[in-house]
Amino acid sequence: MRMVDIIEKKRDGHELTKAEINFFIEGYTKEEIPEYQVSALAMAIYFQGMTEAERVFLTEAIVQSGDQIDLTAIHGMKVDKHSTGGVGDTTTLVLAPLVAAVGVPVAKMSGRGLGHTGGTIDKLEAVPGFHVEITNDEFVKLVNENKLAVIGQSMDLTPADKKLYGLRDVTATVNSIPLIASSIMSKKIASGADAIVLDVKTGNGAFMKSLDESIELAKAMVSIGNGVGRKTMAVISDMSQPLGLAVGNALEVKEAIDTLQGKGPQDLQQLCLTLGSHMVVLAKKADTVHEARKMLLDVIENGQALETFKLFLASQGGDASVVDDPTKLPTATYKIEVKAKNSGYVKEIIADQIGVAAMLLGAGRATKDSVIDLAVGLMLNKKVGDFVHAGESLVTIHSNSEDVEDVAKRILGAYSIVDEEVKAPVLIYQEILS
Ligand code: URA
Ligand code: CA
Repeated sequence: MRMVDIIEKKRDGHELTKAEINFFIEGYTKEEIPEYQVSALAMAIYFQGMTEAERVFLTEAIVQSGDQIDLTAIHGMKVDKHSTGGVGDTTTLVLAPLVAAVGVPVAKMSGRGLGHTGGTIDKLEAVPGFHVEITNDEFVKLVNENKLAVIGQSMDLTPADKKLYGLRDVTATVNSIPLIASSIMSKKIASGADAIVLDVKTGNGAFMKSLDESIELAKAMVSIGNGVGRKTMAVISDMSQPLGLAVGNALEVKEAIDTLQGKGPQDLQQLCLTLGSHMVVLAKKADTVHEARKMLLDVIENGQALETFKLFLASQGGDASVVDDPTKLPTATYKIEVKAKNSGYVKEIIADQIGVAAMLLGAGRATKDSVIDLAVGLMLNKKVGDFVHAGESLVTIHSNSEDVEDVAKRILGAYSIVDEEVKAPVLIYQEILS
């Protein structure tokens, strides 16, 4: 087989075979196929697209390029949730204990975040003593006992994706639905879940800005997941403003604690209930999403969701008393209000800009080696649709430095305030089951 023939075939709009796709991914991973040929193929795929069969073959080939996590020692259906990324997205912190409390095993392998705020592990490390350096045996034992554990990523998952994503970034081929869908799904599949719930964000703060594109991406991922034998569904949710009110590591832990008690922001609470109900159904703990939702509301009300969170934190060395007394979480020295310049209705909050503001404070990593400040971040006091008076606070900055001029400027730039009344945006646009 020759790479040049594969490029030509795709360039001319024909379907590649499983053998051809395997040849390309294996050859690229072993560095037997040069980057210029892979670039050409990526561009051909960008223009010609890929059939459903090709997408499944590509995803499987990427999964096989590296290690795969084996969760078979964990009892029950393991269901994973994946979000295509947003700002202040506290859903994982809430969902993990929430669904574990109704018996869904949550075996989370996680990495550290790059960008706006930390990843799930960084956020959890805001809890004094909590750590993810546990052995695989401990991890399996903890999930079997408590239904929930989080371990740091140590294996070499999907090396072909790392190379290909890096190459796409510099060859203007990131924005291709088959390439994005196979990239994301390969990582989820290699992580060993039996079933996957996808939270595909749409709006100015999302990877996919338009609803049509978001739906297309969601359908592509659901079709790949089901095509490789992992039950997959997707929810399309709003990212035209940050989710919830907190953006920042310790602040988001506090927000998750509130939400597990039913006292969290409405949008975060509703999205968690929707995603969680689908996870419960896929794990076969309920027959309908209606029944699942009721189970989740019950564990919020009777305190089991919060108890599960405490047990989980303590089992990995964390000080679980932060749950009852969140003042024990890292706290920033200064609280500075960003005030509205004029009165009106909040029309838009550019989530990306809020994310950058949080990163400038030190809540996120600019590079892989940056050290993050777990205490700092932002609390949004106004969301889209709210009325604000001139001089009223839009956002409270939690900072360890008094000089927040740049941060405040970003925040003011992110908010647009208009005279006409504005409706709060739709939170969940669509659910895609197949
Ligand atoms: N995120 C990924 O993991 N892969 C892509 O291709 C795009 C976004
Ligand atoms: Ca949040």
